[in-house]
Amino acid sequence: MKTVGVVTSGGDAPGMNAAIRAVVRVAYAKGFRVLGFERGWEGLISNCFRLLNPRSVGGIIQTGGTMLLTSRCPEFKTLEGIRKAAENLAANKVDGLVVIGGDGSFRGALELSRETDALIVGVPATIDNDVYGTEETIGFDTAVNTAVAEIDKIRDTAISHERIFVVEVMGRKRGFLALAVGLTVGAEMILVPEVPVSMEEVYKTVKENAAKGKRSGIIVAAEGAGDTRKIAREIEQNTGAEVRLSIVGYAQRGGSPTARSRLLASLLACEAVNLLAQDIGKRVVGLQKGEITNIDLETSCKNVKPLNFEMLKLAKVLAT
Ligand code: ADP
Ligand code: F6P
Repeated sequence: MKTVGVVTSGGDAPGMNAAIRAVVRVAYAKGFRVLGFERGWEGLISNCFRLLNPRSVGGIIQTGGTMLLTSRCPEFKTLEGIRKAAENLAANKVDGLVVIGGDGSFRGALELSRETDALIVGVPATIDNDVYGTEETIGFDTAVNTAVAEIDKIRDTAISHERIFVVEVMGRKRGFLALAVGLTVGAEMILVPEVPVSMEEVYKTVKENAAKGKRSGIIVAAEGAGDTRKIAREIEQNTGAEVRLSIVGYAQRGGSPTARSRLLASLLACEAVNLLAQDIGKRVVGLQKGEITNIDLETSCKNVKPLNFEMLKLAKVLAT
């Protein structure tokens, strides 16, 4: 192992910079050269990279976003694009590549691994927390805290106006973010894509809560659970409650990473470089039962991470 490449791909996540920093400094300590490819897979296809050293990554551990930029790159879904990337890895004598991204980036990494001799290790970084093989992804804790802080503020005005707020959070097609946020803000209801929404059930809960004297409420809805504008409108039409919709939006993707996100990023990135140093590739590093581990890249891509339905049941009990 002489040259390590690093790339951030897909949706950015707070903590990606902490991960880049750790890749560079751990690799440097092992005597490796580090190339930082820019704009995700686009940078590998267009051979756009910069030489990174410990000084290049100073003062970034506390910053959101990614200093290497990122992208969603349709061209990488073509064999031609992947082969171009593989050629560039060979041309630059890249022996190992650290891919910092989400499940989509890892599917791309798996395709690339079939076309290159470079060893590839994935570092799971996405606010969606939907990567199989790790209990937590880099950026998830920060996104949860961002959404919680926003919803605590919304709770104030919901109480003052005796309103119900449907609050939409991100998470793409999964409910990990909504579940963690909903539990943490004490939401009256949590709507996740994994459980089809029964509007009759929603109306019933709203009416029961009103009868119990709960004159306001927060319903946390994952963006993948349905059309939240329609859900809010239908609750108002069918329960008589005053309902508003608030979308947390892209603030969940930014901000200074929490200590937890920075720590996770540093530990996972270190594990990734350690695997490459042992000439081990086609792995995804992760956190499992408090330990930093790693699993087969294909296994991570081919499995769907289960939602914790016990937590969903607990949220219902706690909302009594
Ligand atoms: P994330 O990594 O955050 O899940 P995406 O799902 O957008 O973000 O994936 C990031 C990029 O990875 C995509 O823009 C695309 O370039 C590449 N990618 C995703 N899925 C595949 C696939 N099945 N084959 C090849 N490349 C893929
Ligand atoms: O994957 C992270 C994420 O923020 C999802 O939660 C969200 O659905 C998606 O990215 C938004 O994609 P884009 O940044 O391309 O608008």
